[in-house]
Amino acid sequence: TATLGELAEAKGRYFGSATDNPELSDTQYTRILGSEFNQITVGNTMKWQYTEPSQGRFDYTAAEEIVDLAESNGQSVRGHTLVWHNQLPSWVDDVPAGELLGVMRNHITHEVDHFKGRLIHWDVVNEAFEEDGSRRQSVFQQKIGDSYIAEAFKAARAADPDAKLYYNDYNIEGIGPKSDAVYEMVKSFKAQGIPIDGVGMQAHLIAGQVPASLQRNIQRFADLGVDVALTELDIRMTLPRTAAKDAQQATDYGTVVKACLAVSRCVGITIWDYTDKYSWVPSVFPGQGAALPWDENFAKKPAYHAIAAALNGD
Ligand code: G3I
Repeated sequence: TATLGELAEAKGRYFGSATDNPELSDTQYTRILGSEFNQITVGNTMKWQYTEPSQGRFDYTAAEEIVDLAESNGQSVRGHTLVWHNQLPSWVDDVPAGELLGVMRNHITHEVDHFKGRLIHWDVVNEAFEEDGSRRQSVFQQKIGDSYIAEAFKAARAADPDAKLYYNDYNIEGIGPKSDAVYEMVKSFKAQGIPIDGVGMQAHLIAGQVPASLQRNIQRFADLGVDVALTELDIRMTLPRTAAKDAQQATDYGTVVKACLAVSRCVGITIWDYTDKYSWVPSVFPGQGAALPWDENFAKKPAYHAIAAALNGD
């Protein structure tokens, strides 16, 4: 039977998984990671705290371990992420306001250049908006101002003209104040010639609560002339699992896959790791989890079969 990656490829899309370095010593894990998906996202180790832990000292060792593995398995790689308020080394907080733009550009230039030619996408800026559509008061926002996002995209384009450049965020899957703010930003970037190629909707969703406007929202971004990717999909539930919750989750995964396939510029879907064994969810949302298509023992759940059926057009 076809893998999820093969089914997606037949539709001109990718279906991928995020991964992280500590998991790579688990051979049962890497066997499925290497065979089932045609795309990989580096879940942690391309972030600033790993790649420039002290100013001007760059380290790509951990990230390269994942990129090398993906390449050896014939998988494309998304880069995640260049500018984010989280997992930022503390030295960045101490950079004087007048120097932070240069420091940010230098970080982007160095990292994008390092991986030039090896990545299909970069998440250039991650999670820059609040739920009400205002700008998050990150150190970049406070010290550089609104222009930091455009400046980040310009620096990334200059360093690698071929990687597709994405703005990535959560809770922008449905239409609402936050996705409206991102929409307006993308619209103004397109009008001004700021180099943006795509919007990443993370899609950390809750079973039974897939936004009704998901497909319409993907379409409106596509209509601005950018690609859309679902970049961190998982669908959590209140534990314990039951057959009814698994069935709801499976329906929801199918709905999400169909929404992407319905919009030609929705280029692919990445789940935020593939097995409940390594999901981030229970550590951040106690009492919730079981968010992924494989359980913690690597058995396929109903969600897996719903994804395959949706990719197959059933
Ligand atoms: O590597 C250290 C390890 O040495 C140490 O023993 C351990 C003790 O806590 O921590 C390990 O680092 C953890 C790291 O994941 C690697 O596992 C960090 O504490 C932990 O905070 C970090 O969490 C990551 C989280 O981003 C941080 O915000 C998750 O793995 C990662 O999946 C998650 O990913 C984010 C996306 O980047 C952006 N969107 C939301 C998504 C989920 O939060």
